[in-house]
Amino acid sequence: MTRLNRQWRLARRPTGDIGPADLELVEAPVPALAAGEVLVRNVYLSLDPTNRIWMSDMDQYLPPVEIGAVMRGGTLGVVEESKDPEIPVGAVVLTGLAGWQDYEICAPGVARVVPQLPGLPLTAYMSVLGATGLTAYFGLLDIGQPKPGETVVVSAAAGAVGSIVGQIAKIKGARVVGIVGSAAKADWITRDLGFDAAINYKTEDVGAALDRHCPNGIDVNFENVGGAIMDAVMARMNNFSRMALCGMISTYNAEGPVPGPTNFTSILMHRIKVQGFIVIDYLPRAAEAMSDLIPWVATGQLKYKVHVEKGLETAPQAVKRLFTGDHDGKLLVEVSAPPGAAA
Ligand SMILES: NC(=O)c1ccc[n+]([C@@H]2O[C@H](COP(=O)([O-])OP(=O)(O)OC[C@H]3O[C@@H](n4cnc5c(N)ncnc54)[C@H](OP(=O)(O)O)[C@@H]3O)[C@@H](O)[C@H]2O)c1
Repeated sequence: MTRLNRQWRLARRPTGDIGPADLELVEAPVPALAAGEVLVRNVYLSLDPTNRIWMSDMDQYLPPVEIGAVMRGGTLGVVEESKDPEIPVGAVVLTGLAGWQDYEICAPGVARVVPQLPGLPLTAYMSVLGATGLTAYFGLLDIGQPKPGETVVVSAAAGAVGSIVGQIAKIKGARVVGIVGSAAKADWITRDLGFDAAINYKTEDVGAALDRHCPNGIDVNFENVGGAIMDAVMARMNNFSRMALCGMISTYNAEGPVPGPTNFTSILMHRIKVQGFIVIDYLPRAAEAMSDLIPWVATGQLKYKVHVEKGLETAPQAVKRLFTGDHDGKLLVEVSAPPGAAA
């Protein structure tokens, strides 16, 4: 039986926001497996702000997705056929960056069986126990290095990464202030996640609110947004403070060169240590993070949310939610039914 594989391919590079003609849905037959390969039916696709970066041809940490190629994206799926004696049919596997498609043929050694822990849904491995959790963990602890009593500020604080960062900072004894884009998000991070304060950048003067909530200045900035929010935080950073530059989502849809911080001299005057980082550099240390993240999740100390859109066809519209904030937790697409789901 020839299977057909729906694939979202990059048709052209977006100008500004991702547009309807930038991606096209095509069907391609799934070829026969070679020795050592496995055929995976994708179940969850991760949608990430970096998808927009990969669609552009700017200088970046991976090669841009080529025009005509399947859009890159992280996936988890179920093995439907296997020519790898180590990976049985039915295994739930992570397939790396298999992309926006129904099926993926994994080359030998690419698929990794998910070590499913009792009581945890598969979406956990695509969020808090996946790249999201690793990003938060290493960005905060390796680069930010918060100490008990210090003040940590995190932007996009109700998002996938930011919500985990704030909770880990609390576990480590810091005072945590989150910057978010709605009253509901502000409520969630303060009432449910234990942040000390939230600032709604859409309704408040961020600088004045930071002055109010950070009377002793800022020791760690976990930067997810860039632009004016980053400027407001950097203007209040203490001597010898640290800035983990995780992302600059406010700039990803911009055309042309992106301006840096307007107060660059504050790095000198306050001896701020600024370090950009990409989670893939930390993958060899994943076990170290998991030894903390798994018990924190299992004991309920670390909470997370996922926002699941159904159907591969929704992906190009759904990814835009990351830029409007119209999602509630780690944004995923359910490409096909998870194992065990009612038909
Ligand atoms: N360095 C790495 O390895 C790495 C890995 C993963 C993610 N990241 C970065 O981490 C950041 C968060 O990613 P995520 O996956 O966790 O996504 P997310 O926070 O779940 O979603 C993005 C959030 O950004 C906020 N946002 C969007 N446009 C904004 C703007 N113009 N100004 C202020 N806030 C804006 C929105 O929240 P509001 O409703 O609060 O505005 C939105 O919900 C991104 O910058 C991403 O590129 C980096």
